[in-house]
Amino acid sequence: MANTATIEINGQKNEFPLVNGTENEVAIDITKLRSATKGVITIDPGYKNTGSCESAITFLDGEKGILRYRGYSIEELAEKADFLEVAYLLIFGELPTIEQLEKFHSDIKKHSVVDDDVKKILDAFPKSAHPMGVLSSLTSALTAFNPSSVNVNSEQDMYNSVVRILAKFPVLVAWTMRKKQGLPLYYGDSSLGYVENVLKMMFKQPHEERYIQNPILVNALDKLLILHADHEQNCSTSTVRIVGSSHAGLFASLSAGISALWGPLHGGANQAVLEMLEAIKEDGGDTKKYMAKAKDKNDPFRLMGFGHRVYKNFDPRARIIKKAADEVLGDLGVEDPILDIAKGLEKEALNDDYFVKRKLYPNVDFYSGIIYRAMGIPTDMFTVMFALGRLPGWIAQWREMRLKKEPIGRPRQLYIGETLRAFKTIDKR
Ligand code: SDX
Repeated sequence: MANTATIEINGQKNEFPLVNGTENEVAIDITKLRSATKGVITIDPGYKNTGSCESAITFLDGEKGILRYRGYSIEELAEKADFLEVAYLLIFGELPTIEQLEKFHSDIKKHSVVDDDVKKILDAFPKSAHPMGVLSSLTSALTAFNPSSVNVNSEQDMYNSVVRILAKFPVLVAWTMRKKQGLPLYYGDSSLGYVENVLKMMFKQPHEERYIQNPILVNALDKLLILHADHEQNCSTSTVRIVGSSHAGLFASLSAGISALWGPLHGGANQAVLEMLEAIKEDGGDTKKYMAKAKDKNDPFRLMGFGHRVYKNFDPRARIIKKAADEVLGDLGVEDPILDIAKGLEKEALNDDYFVKRKLYPNVDFYSGIIYRAMGIPTDMFTVMFALGRLPGWIAQWREMRLKKEPIGRPRQLYIGETLRAFKTIDKR
């Protein structure tokens, strides 16, 4: 293949270099397009065909349903690694030695205290506040209590910010849930592993002398967090990158990413899936009615948890989560009719021409909520759990962008408004 692409505009030919990734993906480098063509740009709403960066963190192949973090398959990582190992891998590029992992965890534990004044901010929210709005606000507020986390011009400064947010974010997640439940807010327990600590802060009841860890929940949450840890340039990660590209601090960039993830077309889908399955259950399990709604162009309803911008095959994470849902509910002895409705819906959709033609398969959000529900996590906290998993991926992508000194993100546009016109003064009474 030639290593250039030729674009001919009004008879003038311009050549642009082709760049190749390590997985044989090819991109046209159009960094010189405007100057070479006196102002011509490309346009691509939703960036469906446009790459924003070169990245070495996550590779996915939507046609083949492949997902790898730093070259390791998601299947192997979900089975053999733990979440903190995967966080280290995503952020620093290599799996940690035991010494590196222990130091990483020890550095994180040193920063697990969240300033008590953050509770005053939490108190100001009405109980009806959605946890994602609370989490985004508290994450941004952390900057005020950790001002040194803004100017991260050295790798050491960046490392200090990274361990701070990995330490404090789980506390904010637990406090956000427990505040809504009217339960006391606990700090972390540094004697525990990262995921065990999250579960204890979320679920220890006031009357309990000790919180007894349930290994089924620990393993399930660890696996879910790994499966959500990164997904290349998705909507929320691109948000974290573009906010960070203005040299806003890490916590402010993450806060923006949380808001982007909240949307029901993105991370908010896991909550929307459960609400949809509940509605179908209330409706007597009438999946056909909801399939018809999903296909009706005049109906805004979509089959939540189905379809994906990149995957035109099964989302590999959905396969793993579906299997885990069976195992967790079985191990916990939970009978949940919602799981059967989900499976029935999946079966129908996978045999329905509308979905098959559009290559719409279950995505990461279709089954995850069923496990969160079995774990006793409230539905409106599902996307917060997604954010907890995605945190290391956001950090890794933000760090890569800053270390590569990428320019501030500032897309162009095609103006389609009024051309020049004179102002007409009206007779003001
Ligand atoms: C996540 O990007 C990531 O990597 C995200 C994520 C991550 O890890 O960060 O994987 C997490 O966000 C997963 C997606 C969760 N969202 C949902 O489950 C919401 C339901 N899905 C859709 O809204 C939709 O599939 C999107 C938003 C996920 C993708 O939308 P696209 O790529 O913009 O595709 P599209 O809207 O142009 O759809 C193409 C066609 C359309 O029909 P036609 O106009 O061709 O006739 O497929 C139809 C759509 O109407 N379609 C659906 C559908 N999804 C797409 N029809 C019914 N139900 C659906 N779910």
